[in-house]
This record gives sequence, C-alpha cells and structure tokens, in this order.
Amino acid sequence: MPSRGSAPSRAHPLAILPIEFVGSFPDPRVRLDPVLPEVAFVGRSNVGKSSLLNALVGKKGLARVSATPGKTTLVNVFRLPSFYLVDLPGYGFARASKTARAGFRELLDGYLQARDTVAGVVWLLDIRRELSTEDETIGELLAESGHPVLAVLTKIDKLGRVAIQERTAALAAALRLPLDQLQPTSAVTGEGIADLGESVLAAADQGPHQ
Ligand code: GTP
Ligand code: MG
Repeated sequence: MPSRGSAPSRAHPLAILPIEFVGSFPDPRVRLDPVLPEVAFVGRSNVGKSSLLNALVGKKGLARVSATPGKTTLVNVFRLPSFYLVDLPGYGFARASKTARAGFRELLDGYLQARDTVAGVVWLLDIRRELSTEDETIGELLAESGHPVLAVLTKIDKLGRVAIQERTAALAAALRLPLDQLQPTSAVTGEGIADLGESVLAAADQGPHQ
C-alpha cells in the first residue's frame, strides 16, 4: 500500500479563487478577451491533465476526466480573475491516426508560437512511464519556445515512497533537469497540489515571458 504522507492537500490560494469555463476552441490562435497571462497544461493523453487541473482549482467536474484517452480534443480555456488556465489536448494517443498526430503537433506548435500571452507551461509526465518519443519532441518544442516550464509527475499514489524517489531521480536525469524542478503530484491524494498551485500562481503573476 503506498504511503499517503501527512496532510497532503493543504489549502492554497489557487483553490479559493473563482474560476469559470470560457470555452473550447479548435484554433490555438483564438483571441481571448480580455487579454491576460495564460498557464497551459500539456502532456500525453491520459497522463491526468484534466484531473490535475480540477484538483488544482478544487473543483471536481470542471475539466472533463475520462478513462478513454483522447478525451480533450480542443483548447479548453478557464478564466481566473487575473489569468487563464488552458487544458490542451493530449498527445501520443495510441489509436490516433497520423493526421490526428500531425494535427496535435500543429496545434501545440501554434499555441506555443502564436501566443505572446503564455506565462508558463505545466508539462505532465506519468511517474511510472519512460519518456516516449513524443515526450522528447514536446520537450524540444517547449525548450525552443522559451516559455517557463513546470515539469510535473502525475499519479504518484500508484507508487510507494521509495519508488517515487527512484522514478523522480530517473526522470530528472532523462529530462536533464535538477530534482527540485520536478513536482510529484497526485490528483487522488492531493499530494504536491498546493506546491504546484503556488508555482502556477507565481508564473501567472510574473506574466508572459518576453
Ligand atoms: P486526455 O484529455 O485524454 O488527454 O487525458 P488527460 O491527460 O486529461 O487525463 P484525465 O485527467 O482524463 O485522466 C485519465 C485517467 O487517469 C482517468 O481515469 C483518471 O481518473 C486517472 N487519473 C488522473 N490523475 C490521477 C492520479 O493522480 N492518480 C490516479 N490513480 N489516477 C489518476
Ligand atoms: Mg483531458
């Protein structure tokens, strides 16, 4: 039985802010009104983007969660008072056609390059999985974009303490990032959610990277 840790889900400022769904958009260049900084969530399909977003803002049914990969196919935008959270479709969906894969790449490229409002990108990786070829491609796109990236490991409730440490170290090495730049999280137990919420708020407050 994985250890659940103590008091994992302390309250944090992000969870008490009002949030509303703005819309789902097929075009990553969509103009949002008002213009505000944005923090986007990206990661392979089924990694837990929508679940993490819901956990972060403390509202269960806000973003659609599904056991079927590829559920989020549009750019879903949520507004907080001073910034937007953006749930992007997952990549690497095993049954996705070539066209769908190319379409996703175009969407992410378009999103990262066309928008000068991006204040940060939360990049999610399943703690149990090795980096896929697509993860590596996305890593390159993110690095090229110059946007601040928060690397988040998801579903840590599936592993015990020691395995969490081992996998975090292995993924840090694979990503060539210092250990403290990876945030282990669980949308189920709430572990790591408050810390991530604080990082997201800090990125949004800092505003778009120029
Ligand atoms: P797409 O929209 O298809 O790209 O998926 P997504 O990345 O938004 O994933 P989603 O949040 O829909 O979650 C996918 C599956 O993983 C669902 O069955 C969730 O219940 C499960 N899941 C998400 N986060 C966690 C977590 O922290 N722990 C566990 N155990 N399961 C999780
Ligand atoms: Mg989703």
